[in-house]
Amino acid sequence: MATGAKSFTFLLISSLFLVSCFCAKGAQNPVPIVNGLSWTFYDYSCPKAESIIRKQLKKVFKNDIGQAAGLLRLHFHDCFVQGCDGSVLLDGSASGPSEQDAPPNLTLREKAFEIINDLRERVHKECGRVVSCADIVAIAARDSVYLSGGPDYDIPLGRRDGLNFATQNATLANLPPPTANASTILRSLATKKFDATDVVALSGGHTIGLSHCSSFTGRLYPTQDPTMDKAFANDLKGICPTINSTGTTVLDIRTPNKFDNKYYVDLMNRQGLFTSDQDLYSYNKTRDIVTSFAEDESLFFEKFVVAMIKMSQLSVLTGNQGEIRANCSVRNSDNSYLVSVVEEDLETKSELR
Ligand code: HEM
Repeated sequence: MATGAKSFTFLLISSLFLVSCFCAKGAQNPVPIVNGLSWTFYDYSCPKAESIIRKQLKKVFKNDIGQAAGLLRLHFHDCFVQGCDGSVLLDGSASGPSEQDAPPNLTLREKAFEIINDLRERVHKECGRVVSCADIVAIAARDSVYLSGGPDYDIPLGRRDGLNFATQNATLANLPPPTANASTILRSLATKKFDATDVVALSGGHTIGLSHCSSFTGRLYPTQDPTMDKAFANDLKGICPTINSTGTTVLDIRTPNKFDNKYYVDLMNRQGLFTSDQDLYSYNKTRDIVTSFAEDESLFFEKFVVAMIKMSQLSVLTGNQGEIRANCSVRNSDNSYLVSVVEEDLETKSELR
């Protein structure tokens, strides 16, 4: 073969190799994946799982884009307490009040739980009981980011659903309050191996969604937090006239429904809603990271994806651990009727194959 033809063949082969590398799921992922999770987990058992979820969420968000924020927060609250095992979805039982009953979870959206169970029903109808509720929550959070204008990215799958929910104390201990300052938040998240860049990036989840007055009125009454912009504080006082007001307001005043980097611009203008947000700009270890994300949205997206993939793998159950719930709100052993119906259905399906 002539040298020109040889080098052309070499170029062609190497570019094909590159293309296949970058097209493969997770190929560009900079985060190591946990044993038992995989980029191709449902490729044979439920290849349509992710497309069913995305298609349905597009419909849901067309009616109400606010639900995207509810689903993103649900994944965060699932993963931080006892790992991403769907335990936040479990209803309370004789063993005690559920994670849902713990104070930080009282403001999770009722509708988010309904959406997850609906997605579970659609996916199980297609494939049988093979996809876990914990994976559905993780996929729904990823899609919420993308469908609100944020980055699209692959997440490793194969999480199993937990058999128990965490205690109220464990829930409180693992979800820092909005009154915490940046150094407390950094210390708390360092126990889960998040560094300062991860913390600032994850807090960018507050670029969408709502908060109740009670989460921030401590910054308005009895004395106004001096780090808060005066006009912003006045607007908030209009929405929440007393410390016990029950109203709600947006987390990102610039673009409340769009997943972008404007949350960091808010912080630079002293318009962060919570102490835990605003202090990221006051604190010397995080201030420059906030500025860099405010100046460069693609840098924020890149670091957000890294931190989300890390978060989505916290203490996951895999392999034979846990179970695949037939109803996301109830563990299978408390739900024998539903499980046996689904199992019969699965048997019929495999007989038909
Ligand atoms: C770092 C510590 C964090 C604190 C202290 C915190 C605190 C809060 C609080 C108090 C609310 C409002 C609750 C209410 O009053 O209704 C909220 C909402 C929200 N949080 Fe966080 N959060 C943190 C991290 C995160 C992370 C890591 C994410 C996701 C990546 C996230 C996503 C959201 C979203 C999307 C909402 C709006 C929910 C809705 O509209 O229903 N938060 N957060």
